Amino acid sequence: MAKDKYKEIFAGATADAFRIVFPETYKSEGDSGPFFAETVYDALVVPKDPSMGRFCLPVFPYARLLKQAPPQIALQISEAANRILIENDKSELVKSEPVGGFLNARVSAVAITRSTLTTILRQENNYGDSELDEDQTYLVEYSSPNIAKPFGIGHLRSTILGNSLKRINKKLGYKVVGINFPGDWGTQFGKMIVAYSKWGDENTLKGEAVKNLLKLYVRFHREAHGDDTLNEDARQAFAALENGEPDAVRLWKLFKKVSNAEFDRIYKMLGVHFDWVCGESDLNDKMEPMIERLRRAQLTSHSEGALIVDLEDEQLPPVLLRKSDGATLYATRDLAGLAYRWEKYHGFHKSLYVVNVAQVDHFKQCFKAVAMLEEAERLATDERMTGRVKHVDFGWVKFDGQMMSTRKGNTVLLEEVIDKATDLAGQIIRDKNPDLKNLEDTARMIGVGAVIFSQISVRSQRDIDLRWAEVLNFEGETGPYLQYTHARLCSILRRYGQDIPTVIEFDLLDQPEEQRVIELLADFPEVVGDASEQYEPYFIAAYLLKLAAAFNRVYQRKDKNNRIDKIISDDEKLTGARVALVQAVVIVIKEGLRLLGLQAPEAM
Ligand code: ARG
Repeated sequence: MAKDKYKEIFAGATADAFRIVFPETYKSEGDSGPFFAETVYDALVVPKDPSMGRFCLPVFPYARLLKQAPPQIALQISEAANRILIENDKSELVKSEPVGGFLNARVSAVAITRSTLTTILRQENNYGDSELDEDQTYLVEYSSPNIAKPFGIGHLRSTILGNSLKRINKKLGYKVVGINFPGDWGTQFGKMIVAYSKWGDENTLKGEAVKNLLKLYVRFHREAHGDDTLNEDARQAFAALENGEPDAVRLWKLFKKVSNAEFDRIYKMLGVHFDWVCGESDLNDKMEPMIERLRRAQLTSHSEGALIVDLEDEQLPPVLLRKSDGATLYATRDLAGLAYRWEKYHGFHKSLYVVNVAQVDHFKQCFKAVAMLEEAERLATDERMTGRVKHVDFGWVKFDGQMMSTRKGNTVLLEEVIDKATDLAGQIIRDKNPDLKNLEDTARMIGVGAVIFSQISVRSQRDIDLRWAEVLNFEGETGPYLQYTHARLCSILRRYGQDIPTVIEFDLLDQPEEQRVIELLADFPEVVGDASEQYEPYFIAAYLLKLAAAFNRVYQRKDKNNRIDKIISDDEKLTGARVALVQAVVIVIKEGLRLLGLQAPEAM
C-alpha cells in the first residue's frame, strides 16, 4: 500500500532511536513497543494544530513500558532521532521536535514542495499508483439490480460505490474484476409470469416496459392480498420455470431482455462497465453441487420440511437451502455463487459484495455457512475464502425526505433523476457561460457527476437524504463544485498559454496557503490507500473537497497591499512556479474525480 515518504523516514529514525535509548526494554519486550518502523508509522497522528508539524507521535502510550515521563521520553528520542536523520542525510527533509508528550515532525517545506510537484508533473494521472509484487485478483460485485423491476436508487448507490472501489483498487495494482449479479431468478418471477399472463398484453413490453411490468407486479400484490389462489399460481409458475417449461422460460427471457436494455442505458449514462455479468440464474446448475457439499460435511438439516443450515450456535437465523416444495432460494444461489467465484478466481485476494445494509444478516449467514464448510472439510488456510469475502454495506437513500420501496411502486426512476440534474446543470451553465461550446455534453457530465457525487460524499454506512438544490450547488460540497474548480484551474492554464517551465524555483511557493495545498497533494497516495483499506470512496471525495477549498484560498489570497495576489503576474519565475502548482492540482483533482467515477470537463 502506498506509504507517505516523510512518515516512513520519520518512523524509521524514531524506531531506531527508541532501540538506542531504551536497549533493555527493547530486548525484554520483544515485538511490542515503538521499536519498529511499522509500529511507529501506524501510531502517527495528525496534530489538531497544523503549526505543530505535519504529523506527530504521541509517546504517552509508552510511559508505563519505558518507566519514564512522556516529556522526558520525547526529549531523548527526538535528540537521538535527529542524530540518525543527520547520519542518513535525511535531516534536510525531516526533523523531530519534542513538544510535551509528543514528537512532532517538521518536514522541510522546500523538500516536500520539490518532491511532490516534480513527482506529480512527471507521473501525471499515474500519481498515486502502486505496483504489487505478484498478481492479486480483487473481485468487486456491484449494482446487481432485479430483472422486471426498475433500477432503484439503492442499486444506484451500489453501482457508484462499487465502480469507485474497482477503480481505486486497480490503481493500487490489483487485477480487479467487476461483477454484476442481476436478480434474474426466484419466486418473484412466478408472480410476474402470473401477472403478465393475466393482465399483460403486447403493449406491456413496449415503450416503458419496466414501468409497465412494475405496475403488473404492484397489482399482483394488491390482488393477492385477498386472494390466496394467486400466490399458489405464482408458486406453480416458478416451479414451471425451474423445471424449464418452455412457456415460462419464454416469458422470463422477455422480461430479461427489456430489463437489460434499460439497465444498459443507465450504465452507459454513468460510464460504468462490468467485466463479468453472472446473474442468479447462471447458478442454477451450481446449487445442487453446493448443497451436496454441505450435506457431506453434515451441515444440513430439516426444519418444517425445509432444508437448512442451522446457525443457532452462531446466533443467526438458519440459511434456507430449499423450501418444502423443493424451490431454491436467494441464499442457495449466493452460496453456490461463493463457491463458483472461488473456483473461477482461485486464491483471490478479496471478494467484495457492495450491497445495501438490509442484507447484513444474509451475508453473515452465507459467509458463516462457508466458513463452517471449509472448517469441516479441513481445507488449508490458503484454500479457504473465509476472511477474504466481505460485505460492503451501505445505508438507505432518501429522496427529498422519502424512502423508496419497489413493491409500492414509488421508486424514483434513475433516468428521471439524471435528466433532472442535467437540465438544472444546463440552466446554470447557460447563465454563467452562455457561449460554452458543447454545452449539452458538459451539462450531462455535470448532471451525472452531481448524482454520482451525492452517493459517495458521505460515509457509505450513513443514510443519504438527497435534496435537489444541494446536489447541484456549484458552491456547496458537491460534484459540480469540484468539476467547476477543476475547469477554473484549466482556464488559468489556458490563459498562461505555455508549457509548464522545466526549471521551477520551488522555494518561491512559500505562502502558507500554497504550502497547505502542497501538503494535501502529497497526501493523495495515502488517501487512495485508505479508501481501499476501509472500502470508503468517501475518503477521496472528502479529500478533494479539502484540496479544492485549500486551492481557493490560494486563488483569493491578498498581497500586502490588499490586492489579489495573482497566479499569473509579470514575475516570470513566480508565475512559473505557481502555474506548476496549478497544473499539479488539476492532475490530482481530475484523477480523484476519475476514481469516484466523475468526468472533469476543462471548461464549464
Ligand atoms: N438483487 C439483489 C437486490 O436487489 C442484490 C444482490 C446482491 N448480491 C448478492 N450476491 N446477493 O436486493
